[in-house]
Amino acid sequence: MNETHYELRRQKLLNALEEGVVILASASPKTRSNDTQYPYRQNSDFYYLCGFGEDNALLILVKTKEITKSILFIEPYNEEHALWNGARLGVEKAKERFCVDEVHDIHEYPTLIKDILRDHVALYIDLFDESSWIRQAKKSAKELHETRGVKRHIRAIYDATHLIRSQRLIKSQEEIAQIKKAIELTAIAHHEAMKSSKAGLYEYELQAKMSYVFLSKGAQAESYEAIVAGGNNANTLHYIDNREVLREGDLVLIDAACEWELYASDITRTFPVNGKFSEVQRYVYEKVLEVQLKVIDAIKPGVKRDWLQHYSEELLCQALIDLEILSGVRSELLESKAHKKYAPHGIGHWMGLDVHDPCPYVDDEGESLCFAPGMVMTIEPGIYIRADDATVEEKYRGIGIRIEDDILITQTGCENLSSAIAKSVEEIEAMCKSYVL
Ligand code: GLY
Ligand code: MN
Ligand code: MN
Repeated sequence: MNETHYELRRQKLLNALEEGVVILASASPKTRSNDTQYPYRQNSDFYYLCGFGEDNALLILVKTKEITKSILFIEPYNEEHALWNGARLGVEKAKERFCVDEVHDIHEYPTLIKDILRDHVALYIDLFDESSWIRQAKKSAKELHETRGVKRHIRAIYDATHLIRSQRLIKSQEEIAQIKKAIELTAIAHHEAMKSSKAGLYEYELQAKMSYVFLSKGAQAESYEAIVAGGNNANTLHYIDNREVLREGDLVLIDAACEWELYASDITRTFPVNGKFSEVQRYVYEKVLEVQLKVIDAIKPGVKRDWLQHYSEELLCQALIDLEILSGVRSELLESKAHKKYAPHGIGHWMGLDVHDPCPYVDDEGESLCFAPGMVMTIEPGIYIRADDATVEEKYRGIGIRIEDDILITQTGCENLSSAIAKSVEEIEAMCKSYVL
C-alpha cells in the first residue's frame, strides 16, 4: 500500500467530522510467559490509517474549520532496543517515509497533547482503549477545562472506531490484491494437507504442513489458530488442540489460513482422511455444499445481510430435513430454532484487516446493511452431528462438516476469491489422490 492510500483514508475520516481531534494508539505488545512475547500484531484501525508497524505509537488527526493535520508520535531510534529487538525507524526517517504533517518523539506526547487539544470541543478515540495514552489525553482535556482563559474545551468524546470501520467495510483494489495473495498461499496449504492426509497421522502433522507453506512462502502470520479436527473433533467449533490421531474412515475438517500484509484469508475444507468419501459422508457433504453454493449465488449488491442469514438457515434446515435428521414442518422448525442444534453458527462475517472484520452489520437506524461492491464476506455453512447424539441415526454420528470461502461483492454479483481450492467431492478426491510418498 503506498502513502497516498493512507492519506486518502485519513482525509476521508476527517471529512466525516465537523471538527475535533482523533487519537488512535498502536497495539500493546503482549506477554506470552515470563520474558517472552507473542509476535507483535499492529492494531488494525491504526494500521489502516497510517501503515506504521511499530508499537508505542500514536496517530493524531486534527480538524478545525480552517485546517486538517496528521501527527505521528513514535519511539525514537534507540541503540539498546536495536541490539535486543531490532532498529526502530526513528523520527527523522519516519518524517521522510510517512506523508504526515508532523512526527514527534512519543516521550513529548504528555506535554504536546495539551496544546493539540486546546480550543477543540470534540475528541474521537477508541472508547474501549484504556491505555495510558488515552488517560493522558482525558487528563489534559480536564486540565484545559479548569484553566482560566481557555474558552473552548472538550465537551464530547466520541467513538472513532465506528467511523473507521465503516470505511474499512469497502475494500479498495489494493486491499483486495492483498486478500487474494493471502488466499493464494492458503490454497496451496489446503491442497498440501489434502495430498498428505492419511490415517495414523496426527492432526498437528497436517497443521505443521500448512504452517510450513505459510512461512516458507513469506506469510507473516496465520490469520487465527488453525483448526485441524479429525472425526468428531469437528463438532467442537473452536477445536484448536489438534493433538489427536487421524483415523481411517473419518473426515477431517481444516479451518486454517494466513495473513498477507495484515490482510486475512479464512478458509475451511472438510475431506476424508483416506481421500475417499464414504456414501454417507458424501451425502452429507454434498448437502452442505449445495447450501453454500446457493447462498453464494444469492449474493449481489442490494441484498440485505440479514436476509442472507435467514435464507441460509432455511436452506440448512431443509438439508437437515432431507437428511432425516430433523422432521416436521420447515417453518415451524425454523421458528423453534431446531436447526440450530446442528447448524449453530452464522453464515459468515466481514473479512479484511481482521479475520472477523469489526465493520458494522447494521446502519445507523439498526437496519441490516445491504451488500455493496467492495465488501468481503466469508460464506461458511456447516452441519455438525455429535458422536454422542443418540437422537440421530447412527450412520451420521460423529460427522462435522463446514465449507468456507471468501467472497467479494462486485458490481453485478459476487466473486468467490477462493474458488481455486478443491471443493467438490470429485475435486477433493482427485487432490487427495495426488499423494506422493
Ligand atoms: N476461522 C474463523 C472463522 O471461520 O470464523
Ligand atoms: Mn470464518
Ligand atoms: Mn474459518
